[in-house]
Amino acid sequence: MTGKPRVWISRPTFPDVVARLEPHFEVAAEPEETVFSGAGLTAKLAGCDAAIVGLKEHVGAAEVAGAARLRIVANLAVGYDNLDLAALTAAGILASNTADVLNESVADYTWALLLGAARRMGEAERWLRAGHWHGTEFRAWLGLDTRGRTLGILGMGRIGQAIARRAAGFGMQVAYHNRSRLPPAIEGACAARYVDKPTLLAESDFLVLAVPLTAESRHAIGAPELAQMKLTAVLVNIARGGVVDDAALAAALGEGRLAAAGLDVFEGEPGVHPALRALDNVILSPHIASATWDTRRAMTAMAVDNVLALFGHGPHAGRPPSLLNPEVLALRPAP
Ligand code: DGY
Repeated sequence: MTGKPRVWISRPTFPDVVARLEPHFEVAAEPEETVFSGAGLTAKLAGCDAAIVGLKEHVGAAEVAGAARLRIVANLAVGYDNLDLAALTAAGILASNTADVLNESVADYTWALLLGAARRMGEAERWLRAGHWHGTEFRAWLGLDTRGRTLGILGMGRIGQAIARRAAGFGMQVAYHNRSRLPPAIEGACAARYVDKPTLLAESDFLVLAVPLTAESRHAIGAPELAQMKLTAVLVNIARGGVVDDAALAAALGEGRLAAAGLDVFEGEPGVHPALRALDNVILSPHIASATWDTRRAMTAMAVDNVLALFGHGPHAGRPPSLLNPEVLALRPAP
């Protein structure tokens, strides 16, 4: 290789964090948030040795077909349903995510959405701003308590566990369902009881979704599952759009078959199902569960560390800290 290897960063991040790349790489960072077409992405990746991308960038076989030098795609997210991992692996390209650094911020935000939905905060704020408040009414704006209720968690990875650990402070019991049951020590630390999915649906007063989006988890909550939930239940989705059938959810909320929902992610986002937008008993946010200053900086730092490490630099030199397909290293050794 002649000259420095080249890194492309698909969106504005934190200049002081990505500056750590500059002694070792030629860095091309997009100055503005941009939506790249498949062809646009293909053109950006051609000639790069590394890319740092976000969830808007869908990277698969077509996008890397002309990227003979590309060694790593570092995702600025823990979820990586925007990457075709099989295609990247087949092309000898490593992929990494930002595991762990966002667990606590996402868990905090999950509770904000849960409480916001339970206490009707979105609806109340819209009403106040519209100038309807002319005096406090004793029986107005009644919401739901958390104390003594069951928090159900579908998907008990590290984010699910961080959500569960906060439940004791609200006086809640925790039930969870996961592909595999957790070791007793982790169940103990989270004070969480393993149940099958039908039991989780039937028992949860608040059901939080924290599963990655995969072929198996697509529409894990659809009309049949919503029909098994309590009429008084609250659903919170901080996982991914597509885990919930949004049309079925809107119908259940609109027909009073579910009390409320808090949603940070949507099928086809940034589009939001019009029936959801029209409902008052749902609090909506634009996929911001990990959006704190500290966490977004930490996510950027982790993507940078993955790239630096692959090329033999930085605190993890030779050992990128969060590879998704480390088997590629055996086939195509680090540069
Ligand atoms: C993630 O990391 O997967 C989040 O959804 C992005 O903020």
